[in-house]
Amino acid sequence: MIKYYLQFLFNSKNEHSLHSPFVFELYTKIIHSKTHLPIFEEIENLRKKLLKNRSIIDITDFGAGSKIYKTNQREIRQIAKSAEKKPKFGKLLFHLIHHFNPETIFDLGTSLGITTIYESKAYGNSKISTFEGCPATASIAYQNFRELNCENIKIIIGNIDETLPKELAKINQLDFAFFDANHRFEPTIRYFELCLEKATERSVFIFDDIHWSEEMHRAWQYIRNHKEVMISIDLFYVGLVFFRKNQPKQDFVLRF
Ligand SMILES: C[S@@+](CC[C@H](N)C(=O)[O-])C[C@H]1O[C@@H](n2cnc3c(N)ncnc32)[C@H](O)[C@@H]1O
Repeated sequence: MIKYYLQFLFNSKNEHSLHSPFVFELYTKIIHSKTHLPIFEEIENLRKKLLKNRSIIDITDFGAGSKIYKTNQREIRQIAKSAEKKPKFGKLLFHLIHHFNPETIFDLGTSLGITTIYESKAYGNSKISTFEGCPATASIAYQNFRELNCENIKIIIGNIDETLPKELAKINQLDFAFFDANHRFEPTIRYFELCLEKATERSVFIFDDIHWSEEMHRAWQYIRNHKEVMISIDLFYVGLVFFRKNQPKQDFVLRF
């Protein structure tokens, strides 16, 4: 990651380099939005509670595993510390959803559900399907959704390899997807290509941890070079892709 971060520092730009009106507006007003809402405090208070929770659960891991923990027993506070995206990224997803108003959202990798709650509160008309392989973790997420009155979330428990094709078959189009589950090359590409079958010109896909490992870095290169992807934005910890037609294919590396 250090090597990739140094490359990112060298290549990344700010708004002064942006000639695309779509990306300029997105970067200055949405990605760097300064809007702070009371719901953010509520979500962060929930995170603080989880960060103090010493209850132990048994983890079922279908993904690339943890770089830190080697056993499958985990305190909730450890999961809250290592797996949940930081507030900055929860807010980024909130602002993107609030701006694009996607009706169908797939959230791959629920964990304790903090990021899913940010997504849920951004646009009341959206229907969110969040996917989690570990039943014990999903059960804590379920409690968290109830605690913050999130009524537009459905949790799909099971290995995404099996659950994703089934859930995609039930929808006509996928407006927004956040990929934060199995951090390996092959499953990332497979999930991307499956979701792509239901994407439209207006869909937005966000990939987490695009430089977390050599495999994820490679997966991101594959995704951004894909013929259907017209705009990619690398913010280092996450990557955004858009499928808007009638414009040249462009890749951006921007500071966040
Ligand atoms: C990094 S965490 C997600 C964090 C969450 N998006 C957040 O920021 O609050 C990844 C989650 O994906 C789940 N996961 C990984 N691979 C999976 C798979 N193949 N099927 C189902 N769940 C999977 C893990 O159990 C873990 O809880």
